[in-house]
Amino acid sequence: MVSGKIASPELWSQGELKLEWAARHMPVVLKVAEKHGKALEGVRVGAVLHVTKETGILVRSLYRMGAEVWLAGSNPLSTQDDVAAALYKEGINVCAWRGQNKDEYFGCIRWVAEAEPDIVMDDGGDLHVLIHDEKTYLADRIVGGTEETTTGVYRLYALENAEKLRYPVIAVNNALTKHLFDNRYGTGQSTVDGILRATNVLLSGKTVVVAGYGWVGRGIAIRMRGMGARVIVTEVNPIRALEAVMDGFYVTSMEKAAELGDIFVTATGNYHVIRVEHIMKMKDGAILANSGHFNVEIDVEGLEQVSTSKRVIRKYNVEYTLPNGKRVYLLAEGRLVNLVAAEGHPSEVMDMSFANQALAVLYLYKNRGKLQPKVYNQPKELDEEVAREKLSSMGIEIDELTKEQINYLSSWK
Ligand code: ADE
Repeated sequence: MVSGKIASPELWSQGELKLEWAARHMPVVLKVAEKHGKALEGVRVGAVLHVTKETGILVRSLYRMGAEVWLAGSNPLSTQDDVAAALYKEGINVCAWRGQNKDEYFGCIRWVAEAEPDIVMDDGGDLHVLIHDEKTYLADRIVGGTEETTTGVYRLYALENAEKLRYPVIAVNNALTKHLFDNRYGTGQSTVDGILRATNVLLSGKTVVVAGYGWVGRGIAIRMRGMGARVIVTEVNPIRALEAVMDGFYVTSMEKAAELGDIFVTATGNYHVIRVEHIMKMKDGAILANSGHFNVEIDVEGLEQVSTSKRVIRKYNVEYTLPNGKRVYLLAEGRLVNLVAAEGHPSEVMDMSFANQALAVLYLYKNRGKLQPKVYNQPKELDEEVAREKLSSMGIEIDELTKEQINYLSSWK
């Protein structure tokens, strides 16, 4: 019997169409599933991922490979309720709905853990941390886990460094076919999409401040520039800051950028990058958004406390009036603007991320008992398999090294 809790089972047919659309654009995930038949027969997979149409194609593929899947959302506001309904109807256990409170959100993650999965998949680390913190008795039966995002991988490194990690985890985020594309082009496009859906402002001629110049920050900066915005980058890492300078962006401190920006986007993975002291300096009408995993990058609590009033202007767009009389607009409550105000990354890019996830699950299962409780990178051959399949699905041929070239490259003379 299917278990879980979703918002509206009757939305399933709308969700089914979304899944159909995503599937058309995710040939690599489908190919992995087709190639591996029933390789996951009887394996229980617990997944905490954003419940989107793309995640739907991933979990449906695992399910069709024989796995029993238990799925919860990895953000209280990112679930697509129609997709959740379609998956539930198909036999996937789902506990996720849009607009969960904190207890409901963690309740669903606990529900995944309590299903006693053999393999755990996570986006952000909340499931891994729950198992290591509260449900440690489950850790021994877990064959291994995967982690989708930079923030989650950092949390796992911290667990590993503290010698507390209890099972092997594959850092899917570290696959080149994941972060070079998903973090950069996926977040770049979906962040612009989220900001536009919540505001519909003209980007051309605006000054956009991007905090952080990791892969996500880079993606946002290049896409904003492509839309005609003047882009300012803030960074704490001197090498990345230098790269931003040489990529042609204006680099300065948040203190200075605060006075200049029309739109601010955080993408650092860090805490309180935009604080009240910055917000007070901003122009009347400044727009604030976050694209990092957690809603900690903008000091929303500080903004709430200092504001004299607040009102909803449109969906996922709240106006705050400051004591100095200026107004700022916070999008998506400071949560992931691309998944809350838009639909997350497009299917084409999630195709690579989730092909990596599916291959990582297959690898963990095949190598059960042989791996150490460590954070592993995605095996290189799997990363390359994803790139090859993606190129092939796009009808792109590439050259192969000739014998002479191989000899030339391997000769020290
Ligand atoms: N993270 C970012 N975009 C996503 C999407 N479309 N589906 C699942 N996780 C995501």
